[in-house]
Amino acid sequence: MSSRDGDAELLVASSDAAFARLGADVIRGVWDDCPEGATILATGWTPIPVFRELAARHARRELSTPQCPIVQLDEYVGLEDSDPRSLFAWLDREFLTPLEVDASSVIRLRGTTADSEQECSRFDAAVAAAGGLHLAVLGLGPNGHVGFNEPPSGPNARTRVVPLSPESIASNARYWSGAEVPVEGITAGLGLLLSADVVVLLVAGAHKREILRRSVAGPESPEVPASYLRRVPRLIIVTDDDAAAGLTPEEIGSRHLPRI
Ligand code: PGA
Repeated sequence: MSSRDGDAELLVASSDAAFARLGADVIRGVWDDCPEGATILATGWTPIPVFRELAARHARRELSTPQCPIVQLDEYVGLEDSDPRSLFAWLDREFLTPLEVDASSVIRLRGTTADSEQECSRFDAAVAAAGGLHLAVLGLGPNGHVGFNEPPSGPNARTRVVPLSPESIASNARYWSGAEVPVEGITAGLGLLLSADVVVLLVAGAHKREILRRSVAGPESPEVPASYLRRVPRLIIVTDDDAAAGLTPEEIGSRHLPRI
């Protein structure tokens, strides 16, 4: 079913702590193999324990500041950096500051520019000038979105402004404590994400079980944008028992199904 070049790797953590360690180990391994390779990073709840584990390792001097260009994945349209709910503020809080990455060096995707077409072209050109994406660390939306590539998004979807789906607005409402959730996002295109050499997909929780199954074991479909991630040369899915329950290695074409 899949058109990927290689086998997906499905790594299943048996605890929250194991999930954080596993995610950090995988990301660190990719950085060790290619220290200069541009890395695009998701925000959202799922990566937080992984980022905190990386930060803890950095604080213990077991991990140096990443040398690679860091790339912003997505942003709400209309939100300033100074708004703590902006995705850049989130990235800064959870990743850049703890790992001592210079925020001014990040390849930004801003949701406040007057000309979003131009912002998207500038962003794509900056990523290309950095040598293209090497690593994409992604979460999985409840509707199969990656970044704000909402369904339907095909494999050539460009970096663009998108209306957020009702599912995403509902899912994001938990970060907004009752305030009105933005209805538009700007996102790195699915086409750009699929150009990465390595994708690390972080998925945790029983509420992600069905969409994980559709993403890795169902047919490719614009209705499940994450289903195209199987096309990248190396897809590593870091998940937990709750999300992975019932998935078999055969279903995802994985040779191994280690549980850690
Ligand atoms: P979450 O978000 O990690 O907060 O569940 C994932 C996503 O919507 O991409």
